[in-house]
Amino acid sequence: MESPRHLLSSAQLTPEETLYLLDLAAALKRRPQRILPGKHLALLFEKASLRTRVSFEIAMDHLGAHTMYLDPREVGLGEREAIRDVARVIARYVDIVAVRTYGQTIIEEYARFSSIPVINALTDEEHPCQALADLLTLREHLGTDLRGHSLAFVGDGNNVSTSLVITATALGMDVRIASPPRYQLPEWALVEAQTRARNSGGTFLATTDPVEAVRGAEAVYTDVWTSMGQEREAERRKIDFAAYQLNSALVAHAKPGAFIMHDLPAHRGEEITDDVFESPTSIIFDQAENRTWAQAAVVAFLLGADRAIQP
Ligand code: CP
Ligand code: NVA
Repeated sequence: MESPRHLLSSAQLTPEETLYLLDLAAALKRRPQRILPGKHLALLFEKASLRTRVSFEIAMDHLGAHTMYLDPREVGLGEREAIRDVARVIARYVDIVAVRTYGQTIIEEYARFSSIPVINALTDEEHPCQALADLLTLREHLGTDLRGHSLAFVGDGNNVSTSLVITATALGMDVRIASPPRYQLPEWALVEAQTRARNSGGTFLATTDPVEAVRGAEAVYTDVWTSMGQEREAERRKIDFAAYQLNSALVAHAKPGAFIMHDLPAHRGEEITDDVFESPTSIIFDQAENRTWAQAAVVAFLLGADRAIQP
């Protein structure tokens, strides 16, 4: 079996491909195009979702294609049925699949047995579709050329921040992340972001000091302290992350008028205060909207239909 191209990790996209996908996403947003008639996407989800599910379905509608949603109670990936069997069965029905699951090793195993492209719709380790939508949003607000523009993430070194820093450093941004000592990005992501920053002419800083990360930043981003699957750690995390809340005192260190970002869902009063969330410079709902166009671009690209997209 010849292995198709998958998107399991943000690191699988070269900087050139990342820029290309962002251009495609912008083109599709300007002018939706029915370039995938008769194609089918399966959404195989083992965790809850609002944005990812809806935006994939709407993206496929815009492309003239169909979607089938398989909810967390249905398939029992690796429980009711072996991962390798599920992957081979789904590939006999549809053209592309987006998988939301727990460990990255699950989606990697799934992809090894999939003869159709697999998209990471969130794992414990990464959220590449979110990162593309986030960078599309930043391009809309800061300009298409993001080189030298600054972005600070404050919070957990988790799936969202991993994909974010890998994607943003590829574009030559000045990227900073502040996390508590036990919640730093994994070593491979630190190395990848550092390498990408060096190659793109950007910068990358990982620190435990939120003020250092946020100082002068043009955009400030946070995510939940407790991700899906970590619920038993919630009380411990509230203590460990207390100094990492995105509140007005912290945002005061950013550039005046800095954009506020969150991938959602948000827990107001935990990682972000209500006033910061609702501030006039919030671009949080633009991020949510742009999921549609980022994912439309990814699906078109992985199915080899990208050349049909008109600028
Ligand atoms: N941001 C995001 O992926 O949202 P959902 O979990 O609701 O899909
Ligand atoms: N880090 C969060 C992101 C949700 C979109 C989680 O994994 O639950």
